[in-house]
Amino acid sequence: MVPFAPSTRSPDEPCGPYTPPRESSARVGGPASLLDPGTERDPHPLYRTLRANFPLVRDEPFGAWLISRHADVRAALADPRFVAPSPGPVPAHGERRTHDAYRAIASAALRNQVSAALRAGVERTAHVLASRLAFRQEADLVAEFCRWLPAAAAVTALGLPYEDTLRVHAWCRTGLDHLGGHRPGLDAYLRPHLARRRAHPGDDLLSALCTARLDGRPLPDGTVTELAGTVLGAAGETTARALASFLANLLDHPGQLDLIRARPGLAGAAWAESLRRDPPLQIVSRRALEPIGPIPEGATVACLLGAAGRDPARFADPDRYDIFRAEPGDLAYGSGPRHCLGAPLARLTAEAGLLALLTVLPGLRRASGPRPRPEGLVSRSPRTLPVCPR
Ligand code: HEM
Repeated sequence: MVPFAPSTRSPDEPCGPYTPPRESSARVGGPASLLDPGTERDPHPLYRTLRANFPLVRDEPFGAWLISRHADVRAALADPRFVAPSPGPVPAHGERRTHDAYRAIASAALRNQVSAALRAGVERTAHVLASRLAFRQEADLVAEFCRWLPAAAAVTALGLPYEDTLRVHAWCRTGLDHLGGHRPGLDAYLRPHLARRRAHPGDDLLSALCTARLDGRPLPDGTVTELAGTVLGAAGETTARALASFLANLLDHPGQLDLIRARPGLAGAAWAESLRRDPPLQIVSRRALEPIGPIPEGATVACLLGAAGRDPARFADPDRYDIFRAEPGDLAYGSGPRHCLGAPLARLTAEAGLLALLTVLPGLRRASGPRPRPEGLVSRSPRTLPVCPR
């Protein structure tokens, strides 16, 4: 086995523009559609066909051009001719400028997110959640652990009261909507917290947003609540799904789980491997700003992260879950100008969660009965994870 080496590649690293394959392989009308019955249950047979024979193909029912090979997905995500989809035909220049400004603010606010205090808070919550399962015969890790820990981590990072986690949880379920989406109700909830942070800023994420300046002026309250909402949606739902797949992968490979029990430092490699094999966001969409090979201007392009993570041209024996993989995956968090800003918080949450479960529940194993399969085409993870906690 080759020891794990963390990826040295930065998601910002230039990788050259996306080059469409020769016309012959860029056909309209592929072998099947993402929307065909059966694909959602298991998309990997279709992903294999796409990678091998249709690296760029128009999926008419899905309404997008599909890109599936690792190198192509990485290049497309970094290529400025592809932009994140927006409500209009093509994003206005002003819209992109706003996004860039918001991204710079969120990025600065999140840069020092993993403080000792945040780590301690997430670890404490993970222990509380695990301890609640300690005397149970059976439990569902998705409903009772995975959905709560990332929400509590986001609450802690923002500096909101821990006891508000239940309330904030609903805003975490909305998922990633890019920087600045509106969440009804969140604004009213956050306003009193904003007033306090503006008067007495602390070292939490909400204070960082309240003290940030755009064109020399503080951000309006509405913008701060939208950015906080994006953090909750991105951190809560996406990390919850990734955590469910992570725990499922380890429970399916008890030998590798035992190795982590003995050497907890392996947890980070195990997390990276799960994100490669089973990324929670399987599809990231883009819109073409100009014609690119057969892709017309304005067309939607689906970058298949789930297919890229299992590309045999990049990863040996790609379907295997192997925490000692020499080349870790690098696309689950996206790539290029929109890559994820929350990877350190997600990793902290996953590691703290796993280590708490292993410490508090040393006998943790899958419950007998049928194994729940991952569900979802765009966001994908097991909906339940029945376990015997003791
Ligand atoms: C395992 C957990 C996570 C995964 C797999 C993940 C994945 C992603 C991906 C693929 C994107 C890029 C979308 C695109 O290119 O269109 C993204 C963007 C983003 N993520 Fe994450 N994410 C995770 C956790 C988090 C957390 C914990 C936070 C916040 C603390 C966060 C904040 C963001 C933000 C703000 C963006 C938008 C960036 C932009 O629009 O420029 N994510 N994430």
